Order: sequence, then structure tokens, then C-alpha cells
Amino acid sequence: MKKYGVNELRRMYLEFFESKEHLRLKSFSLIPHNDKSLLLINSGMAPMKPFFTGQEIPPKKRVTTCQKCIRTGDIENVGKTARHLTFFEMLGNFSFGDYFKTEAIHWSWEFLTEHVGMEPERLYPSIYCEDEEAFRIWTEEVGVPADHITRFYRDENGDCDNFWEHGAGPCGPCSEIYYDRGVKYGCGKPDCKVGCDCDRFMEVWNNVFTQFESDGNHHYTELTQKNIDTGMGLERLAVVVQDVDSVFDIDTMKAIRNKVCEIAGVTYMTDKKKDESIRLITDHIRSVTFMTSDGIIPSNEGRGYVLRRLLRRAARHGRLLGISGLFLAKLCETVIAESKDGYPELEEKRDYILKVLTLEEEKFNKTIDQGLMILSEMEEAATAAGSKTLSGEDAFRLYDTYGFPIDLTEEILEEKGFTVDMEGFKKAMEVQKETARNARAVTNYMGADATVYDEIDARVTSSFIGYDKSSASSKISVLTTDTELVKEVVAGQNVTIMRHRSMLRWVARLQTSVRLQRAMLYLPLPIPLS
Ligand code: ALA
Repeated sequence: MKKYGVNELRRMYLEFFESKEHLRLKSFSLIPHNDKSLLLINSGMAPMKPFFTGQEIPPKKRVTTCQKCIRTGDIENVGKTARHLTFFEMLGNFSFGDYFKTEAIHWSWEFLTEHVGMEPERLYPSIYCEDEEAFRIWTEEVGVPADHITRFYRDENGDCDNFWEHGAGPCGPCSEIYYDRGVKYGCGKPDCKVGCDCDRFMEVWNNVFTQFESDGNHHYTELTQKNIDTGMGLERLAVVVQDVDSVFDIDTMKAIRNKVCEIAGVTYMTDKKKDESIRLITDHIRSVTFMTSDGIIPSNEGRGYVLRRLLRRAARHGRLLGISGLFLAKLCETVIAESKDGYPELEEKRDYILKVLTLEEEKFNKTIDQGLMILSEMEEAATAAGSKTLSGEDAFRLYDTYGFPIDLTEEILEEKGFTVDMEGFKKAMEVQKETARNARAVTNYMGADATVYDEIDARVTSSFIGYDKSSASSKISVLTTDTELVKEVVAGQNVTIMRHRSMLRWVARLQTSVRLQRAMLYLPLPIPLS
């Protein structure tokens, strides 16, 4: 098999399905459109749900995409394993009431064997255990030996498995294709086979026969039109094609990984802990670059919080590698260079992305510096009291009030022979969670849900001067995003600008939100508080 690069594989796949009369669409944004069931797009089919259900008419009944996806459910494993990523690309071909099982199965086989050059004897399809039709197509039409086909069961009671669904929406039974990477990647157990946890049999392709609609609570209704939703993780495909140990060794990821090492002055594969940090940063910088490019801004809730968390984790692991100062923007340049082939918009938005990431990294660095100062005061107090343990309350205060990560507190103290009362820390965390649960529905004095505007200093006022003037200049007194008061805003953010004297009529204190791209026409950027 030829060792195709990631950008080449993406192109080959999309061109193959174009040759099968599919319309190639650009990746949809990571921000779901009209879909409250998802925080971020997590699969190729997610942005196309209305086409599957028939609610919206697709631009063509056959579509192919390479979709940007984020999944953070397993974030704790990122860096520690060979496979976990928070950002990945999913190749997909879709049929909306057009072709069904036969074509989908045949084309997946054709692409993998004839175009990518995988040896047929290394391929192992799986099926939903009762899907006799899929079994027949694989064995009789494609010619796969029956003993290469695995029927998946959920448990020993014989309940069927291999059914794809993600939250509410279209779903259905699957037929995957696994590639046997050989004994060198295996666990060596005599019963090692498709479905084993080790790295020998790797799932590369998933054909979903989308014929049901789920309400998200395991209630299914049959869809009138039968659809195809397929997914192939591009990075995983590249692992198999390039015959490398992990997703961090494929060409595009390796370039980012090498850049991390260059900036940190470390060598990959010389220290287990450092390797975890290198891999984590390599993954997270891709997520934050693509999220920012799609207009997500770091904040304390929702998508913005996911972005902030990923960005701060990357920044903190940079410190663990010994990097001092700002480095995320430099890495982001490598992500853009490696991905612009598939996503030219990254290049166009380069300055904006770098600006947002750098602002947030600076903010985090301040947090860390402040936290370090407070931590050393706490240490001194503990030492004076003859203790070598930081109390759970102190550790929690650092975490909660100053945003100082607990593992960092532990690591720093460990070097000085201190321990942290983790039980006390967890207890304090529980108390805080309980308080937050009780206070979740915070309301303002009018009984409405509190918003960012309730945080504005009550002395700040704005007078409406538009009765007799059609232009005026005025000082900006408050800037807010959707969620917080800020000192500066950049393009792409939803912002509120409050001025001492205003041409707009404010309704009470609630300001009109303006989309900054429009405001850019007459405001200098970035807009600082004046
Ligand atoms: N939607 C299917 C998946 O993500 C193809 O695996």
C-alpha cells in the first residue's frame, strides 16, 4: 500500500465520490445550526440531520464531505493513548433517500481496495447481528469470506449491537470495515479478533444504514426515506495507510508534534510524561484553531468554555514542557500550514485566529503567575505552622478563585516535598457544586434570568441624544461579550457597546447587541475601552 499523506487521502476520497455523482460540499461549521441537541458538530452526518429526516431538501441526493468534528467526552485520555483526539476530520458519503446498502457497501470496498490499495484479505466487515441483507451483500456480491464477517452482540443475552446514534435524530444499523494491521500491533492473546481492545484490528470505515429517527430516549420511528451515512476518520485511515503507531505519527500531526518539540527544546519519545504533554498540545492546538476559525470565542460557558478549557490545558502543558512565554500562536501557524489544503479559510482568518488565541493565552499566563504567588504564600503559612500539607480549602481556593489547575498545584508542591489534602479538595469541590446547583437559576431583581448586563456597575449610565442629533462622538464605557464584561473585543464576537451618550435608544439597561463584523465598518479594531 502506498503511504499517502493526509491531504492526499482527503482529496482522493472526495474525488472518488464525485465520480459516483456525489456533490462535494465544504465542511460545515463546528457550530451546529438549529440543533439544540449538540454543543459542537461531532460527526459528518450531524450538520445534515434535516436532510435525512426530509425536513429540508438537500442540494443533491448524494453528497460527500470531509467534516471538522470535535468530541471531548474522552478528553482525559488525550495524550495518554495512541488514538484519542478531541479534533478529527470525518470523511463521509451520504444518500438522502437515494442509494442504499448495496451501493454503499460496494463503494466502500472499491475505494479501500482499488484506490487506497488495501489488501482485501486484511479487511474484516462487521454487521448488526440480524442484518442478513448486509451479510448477503458482503459474502455473495463482494465476495468476502463468511469467516471474515463479525456479527456484533451487546452482551451474552444475544441482544444485537452495531447501531449508530448520537443524541436525538436519524440513526440505524451499521456495517463497519476493520483493517488487520498485523500481529506486531496485537495483544498476543489467542482470542484476539475484531472488536478486541488492542491496536491490531482497526475500524476504518462505518456504513450506517440510516432508516430510523430517535427521540434521544431510545424510542425509534421508521423514516419514510432510506438513507446512507458513512464515516471514516481521516486520521485513523492515515494511521493504517502510513503504517504508523499512532495518530500523532501521521504526516500532518507529526509536523505539529515536531513544532511543539522545537519550541520546547525537547525530544519526543525520551520521557513518558513529556510525551503525554507533547501529544496533548498537538491535539488541542488543532481543536482551538478550528473552533476559533468558526467564530467560537473563549468564555465561561457552552462552546466558549470548551474552547477555553482546551486552550488552557494546552498552555499549561506547554509550561510543563518548560516553555516560557507565549507559544500557541506559533503552533497555530503550523496547524494552518498543514490544513489549509482542505480548509483555505484558515489562511484567510489567520490574523484573527492568532489574535484571539494570544489574548486568551496572555490571560491564562496572568492567572498562572498570580496563582504561583498565592501558592507560595500558602506554602509559607503551612511551613510556619509546621505542616507539609496544603489544606484542601486552600487548594480549592486556588482552583476556584484563581483558575489554578489542581494538578499543577500538586506538581509544584511535590517538588518541594509538600502534599495536598486531596480529600479536603474534593469535599470543597462537592460543596461548591451543590451551591452552584442550588443557585443555577440565578435571577435578577425583575425575576428574569440574570445576564451579563446585571454585572454592569449600576453607576454607569447612558443618555439618549438622538432626538436632536444625527451624529456625535462618545466615550465607550462598557464592553461585553454574550457572557462577560471585557476590556477589548475583536472581530467575530457578539458584543455590546455601551456609550456615555448614545444615538441608539437603550431599552432600560439592556443594550442592543451588534455583530462586530458589521460594526467594523465604522469602528477601529480591536476596540478597546476608551
Ligand atoms: N455517523 C457515523 C459515524 O460517525 C458514520 O461513525
